[in-house]
Amino acid sequence: MTLKRIAVMTSGGDAPGMNAAIRAVVRTGVHYGLSVYGIRRGYAGMIGGDMAELDRRAVGGIIQRGGTILLTARCPQFMTEEGQVEGLRQLRQRDIDSLIVIGGNGSLTGALRLQQMGMPVVGIPASIDNDLARTDMSIGVDTALNTALDAIDKLKDTASSHGRAFIVEVMGRHCGWLALEVGIAGGAEVVLIPEREMALETVAREIKEGYLRGKAHAVIVVAEGARHTTQEVAAYLTQEKVGFEVRVTILGHVQRGGTPTAFDRTLATRMGVAAVEALLNGESGVMVGLQGQRVVTVPLEEVLAAQRPLNPFTLRMEEILAR
Ligand code: ADP
Ligand code: F6P
Repeated sequence: MTLKRIAVMTSGGDAPGMNAAIRAVVRTGVHYGLSVYGIRRGYAGMIGGDMAELDRRAVGGIIQRGGTILLTARCPQFMTEEGQVEGLRQLRQRDIDSLIVIGGNGSLTGALRLQQMGMPVVGIPASIDNDLARTDMSIGVDTALNTALDAIDKLKDTASSHGRAFIVEVMGRHCGWLALEVGIAGGAEVVLIPEREMALETVAREIKEGYLRGKAHAVIVVAEGARHTTQEVAAYLTQEKVGFEVRVTILGHVQRGGTPTAFDRTLATRMGVAAVEALLNGESGVMVGLQGQRVVTVPLEEVLAAQRPLNPFTLRMEEILAR
């Protein structure tokens, strides 16, 4: 099939670098003589027919901007077969012959549905959780990591001035990648993640031992999806148990915003170009992924069937260096 008109969309939780990916897709498409449509508000906009052609100028001045100029949404209607059929009908009505979906696990599951219904699709991984398998990094993760790290550095200033312990909650519904990496880079005493069991008595003991050794402060990083919630950890870690007075900071959605780092802009750009070139090479039903230094394509089915394991070396390193 000769490609003529492709569409690009962002979906699910936004991630810094999505704009750089949109820009790369549009400019690569135009470079190869394709017409490129932008779908607004993810699957909601697809179902609603909210899409228009984008030219090179339409994506000027956005490489450094967080968020997504195409807007994003969570769309329960697309989880139903009727929603998917209507989305497909809207694409076909406009003679769109292939689709590029930029998003996380849920968004790429929707993309796979469209592929199974006959629409050639390529996925681009974008989610600050870094929970997608078969790619070392998703777009947005590096920026979120730096944002969380900056917050922890700042909290350490006030923590050591007062001799306090801070419980810092970072995002990650089901995946502890962000918590683990920021814990290592920020020198946290304890990191609580969904992938690893750690009893609250152990957390309290570690912190108390640090207090007794004369530590000026302590930082406990808690992933949003950790087995013990931030509230449970905060309720358990009384000053009586740990020595330090304890405060809680939930970083929340600040981690999703902001100027993408150089790494995220470059990754998004490489993935955007690779996604269009994959379609032109006749590939579909795949996701572009970073493996080592290379951007490769991997079957979407394989990506979505697998859990992304944390690197055992990174886990060991955290255990060696904390305390
Ligand atoms: P993310 O892509 O960031 O993981 P979500 O999990 O919220 O975000 O998914 C984004 C959207 O993708 C959903 O609102 C829905 O429209 C679509 N989606 C998610 N899961 C499915 C599914 N199993 N089938 C079809 N579409 C899905
Ligand atoms: O982008 C992923 C994520 O940040 C998760 O870590 C978090 O649970 C979720 O999105 C929250 O997103 P929202 O508030 O948009 O539903």
